[in-house]
Amino acid sequence: MWIRQAQDADMDAISALEKECFTDAWSEALISNMFSNSYDKIFVLEEDEKVAGYINTRDIGGDVDLMSLCVSPAYRRKGYAGKLMERILCEPYRQIILEVRESNEPAIRLYEKYGFEKFARRERYYSSPDEDAIIMILKKK
Ligand SMILES: CC(C)(COP(=O)(O)OP(=O)(O)OC[C@H]1O[C@@H](n2cnc3c(N)ncnc32)[C@H](O)[C@@H]1OP(=O)(O)O)[C@@H](O)C(=O)NCCC(=O)NCCS
Repeated sequence: MWIRQAQDADMDAISALEKECFTDAWSEALISNMFSNSYDKIFVLEEDEKVAGYINTRDIGGDVDLMSLCVSPAYRRKGYAGKLMERILCEPYRQIILEVRESNEPAIRLYEKYGFEKFARRERYYSSPDEDAIIMILKKK
């Protein structure tokens, strides 16, 4: 297992991962936009010579928005999301903000493990299916 910065050649693998992991997966256009946005950082986790997970953050004036994090179902519960999280925690930030579906217990537990706290709710933020988002924040100590 190793983690590296994503390259344009990873776009198809990330698109496939998104479809595997989310009911409201990002479109190819959104993924392409993330690659061309200079405020975005994307790291991929490789295992068995393929992309098994990725994380994307966006710098919003010193704060960081955790835009996406997922691990392919076959590679879950091995600590890989934790490794991706630790990779972004090495980067400079004042606070990291994210939204998560309120029913997404695995992700909420993961974020709480790394010190994120529930902060607010955004009603019907998600579609397919409609669901509220919980906003979580990690402030630099
Ligand atoms: C959430 C997700 C990224 C976790 O990936 P993972 O590689 O399986 O997670 P890890 O093995 O690194 O687990 C780290 C911690 O997360 C929590 N966790 C992960 N999966 C969990 C589950 N199924 N149930 C409860 N807690 C879970 C635990 O706190 C775990 O720590 P522990 O092993 O010490 O108990 C993965 O399930 C996923 O890709 N889900 C679909 C996409 C998604 O929901 N992304 C987040 C969007 S906001």
